[in-house]
Amino acid sequence: MNRLAILGASGHGKVVADAAALCGWEHIDFFDDGLPERKVCGVWSIVGDSAQLLAAVDTYDGVIVAIGNNAIRRAKQQQLVQAGAVMATIIHPAAVVSKHAHLGAGSVVFATAVINPFCEIGDGAILNTGCSVDHDCSLGAFVHVSPGARLAGQVQVGDESWVGIGASVRQLTCIGARVTVGAGAVVVSAVANDLTVVGVPARAIGK
Ligand SMILES: CC(C)(COP(=O)(O)OP(=O)(O)OC[C@H]1O[C@@H](n2cnc3c(N)ncnc32)[C@H](O)[C@@H]1OP(=O)(O)O)[C@@H](O)C(=O)NCCC(=O)NCCS
Repeated sequence: MNRLAILGASGHGKVVADAAALCGWEHIDFFDDGLPERKVCGVWSIVGDSAQLLAAVDTYDGVIVAIGNNAIRRAKQQQLVQAGAVMATIIHPAAVVSKHAHLGAGSVVFATAVINPFCEIGDGAILNTGCSVDHDCSLGAFVHVSPGARLAGQVQVGDESWVGIGASVRQLTCIGARVTVGAGAVVVSAVANDLTVVGVPARAIGK
């Protein structure tokens, strides 16, 4: 029986577990620092905290970090890899990922997301429900593209950036690192590192 460990017993974690079960993971355990108060996440058991997972990575065939915060997800994945974890990549069976796209380790792609050819996507990405990432996009490590967000062709997104729910990004646009694109925004020009942008067209509201 193949065994998957998920770090982060969140709502997002439940969606990761559900997709993982659909794509063939037979035994799924959660780990979360909310122990001992919390013992279950949906129908799955929380069997330990993050320190216990670090000590037990070699007993799992795959490990994935289900933490929405991009910087925290990156730090946790790095610790796990250093401890010898094999990072899983979970692609929901109802997602469409081109065989000519590349996805980094520890990434998840949820139902009805479409990742078109020649996309390069870094480690630990969250490509959320119904998002689309069009041809030749380049996404850094630990990026999150929220539900229903759309990236047109040849968009670049830097490490740890978050594209909010329902946002759209015009083709060829460069979005820097650690950027937040607000829900529903339409990004039509480059966004510098560390900014938060909102609205149509998207404008910066701060760092
Ligand atoms: C952009 C965002 C991160 C800002 O959050 P915040 O820092 O808490 O900002 P606030 O809610 O205090 O809003 C600050 C101002 O920006 C405006 N604003 C916030 N988000 C906005 C958005 N998406 N579009 C337009 N305006 C927005 C607010 O109306 C407010 O304006 P005001 O100062 O005139 O009242 C957040 O609103 C957002 O859009 N998050 C994305 C959520 C998402 O995608 N969730 C999916 C998870 S899977």
